[in-house]
Amino acid sequence: MPTIRFIEPSGTEHVVEAESGQSVMEAATGNLVPGIVGECGGSCSCATCHVYIDQPWFGQLGTPDEMEEMMLEGAIEPGEQSRLCCQIEVADDLDGMVVRIPAGQL
Ligand code: FES
Repeated sequence: MPTIRFIEPSGTEHVVEAESGQSVMEAATGNLVPGIVGECGGSCSCATCHVYIDQPWFGQLGTPDEMEEMMLEGAIEPGEQSRLCCQIEVADDLDGMVVRIPAGQL
């Protein structure tokens, strides 16, 4: 099972064992990671799953599609490495991925 490391701005870390095939948002909400709400259930229409992804994983993920880009524009504190984590599917090659939670979502 791939491990995802969710990190709050304070440095508090939540290490989650995720299942391949689920979304990173589902891995977060299923483990009560704070700051990731997933209000729309993963249909890319709320941006409450906004996060920052560390390299090298950010580069591995490819580019967001047009819908995700649009939603990211309305996210709280968007940055260079912003993604909506409901649009990221957990896979073995993402093991150890660092996902940072925006301060404004806590
Ligand atoms: Fe709503 Fe990701 S859960 S956009």
